[in-house]
Amino acid sequence: MSDIRLEGVTRRYGAVAAADSVDLSVTQGEFVTILGPSGSGKTTLLSLIAGLNRPTSGRIFIGGRDVTEAPAQERNIGLVFQSYALFPHMTVLENVLFPLGVRKITGATARTQALDALKLVRLEGLHDRRPSQLSGGQQQRVALARAVVFKPDILLLDEPLGALDRKLREELQVELKQLQRTLGVTTLLVTHDQEEALSLSDRIMVLNHGKTQQVAAPTEAYLKPANRFVAEFLGIANFIGLPGGGTGLVRPERVKLEAAGVNGGRPAKVIEAIYLGQMVRYHLELEGGAAPMVAAQPFVGRAYAAGEKVSVSWDATDLWPVA
Ligand SMILES: Nc1ncnc2c1ncn2[C@@H]1O[C@H](COP(=O)(O)OP(=O)(O)O)[C@@H](O)[C@H]1O
Ligand SMILES: [Mg+2]
Repeated sequence: MSDIRLEGVTRRYGAVAAADSVDLSVTQGEFVTILGPSGSGKTTLLSLIAGLNRPTSGRIFIGGRDVTEAPAQERNIGLVFQSYALFPHMTVLENVLFPLGVRKITGATARTQALDALKLVRLEGLHDRRPSQLSGGQQQRVALARAVVFKPDILLLDEPLGALDRKLREELQVELKQLQRTLGVTTLLVTHDQEEALSLSDRIMVLNHGKTQQVAAPTEAYLKPANRFVAEFLGIANFIGLPGGGTGLVRPERVKLEAAGVNGGRPAKVIEAIYLGQMVRYHLELEGGAAPMVAAQPFVGRAYAAGEKVSVSWDATDLWPVA
């Protein structure tokens, strides 16, 4: 197990800086997610850490060792990509044995390690199948087993659940979290899915145009975003004009709705009430031409209907000033 440190890591492609002076410290055993829109430089950053790509400038340290110039095979990193990238002509077991063979681990030792890894991802009994005989979720479990079987110092996952449907993705998120906790392996996950980032990680790093926007614990990034980009990327953002100038963010869950006329809230009309199972999301129009707002409240038997007049308020402590 190792920590990761990036110091001023930059990767240019002509005029584009796919990674732009990125600093990051990931402590041993930590689970950090790199979150950003398509093209923000997430894959570039992972490939630089993996040694599949070289920075234009800056240094990369793994376990305190400067690996900036070290080839990929000297970095002891487990990798999983969105496309499963399994060997189609090999069985499940052969796929998982492969990285051990590369490391000259063979025979009974290799077999025990491979079977342990397959057990860890709950694929006992499917050893002899070929990838084409597995579902997408099962294939990605094989890819995970293959990435951890040789006890890597670091696990790098590039949108590993991106190709799976929602229900399966949620199941595998839980398994991935459990696997990471069991192994205690330092993990960097790349995703463009904010819910995935918020739910899995110890900390998230938000990227845009190759630049770090914020590195923080999920709740901090969500409730106290460093800027407008982070505020909008991490969920629904209500921006409120503050009395002395400036803008405040209030998240939908922190917006309180009451019957019209109650205790000095702002009068508003429900434009749309969207039932989401446990929650109802309200799209609101405030009187006086202020920007529309969104509120999210637990569903407790009754919801306000479209067209209904309500009273909207929030606590001053739930406002976060954004630049
Ligand atoms: N090999 C390359 N050659 C030229 N441009 C590249 C190369 N790889 C990535 N880029 C550019 O760098 C930026 C970041 O790409 P990438 O790291 O793949 O983003 P992400 O994974 O967040 O979608 C994009 O503008 C992309 O077009
Ligand atoms: Mg990518």
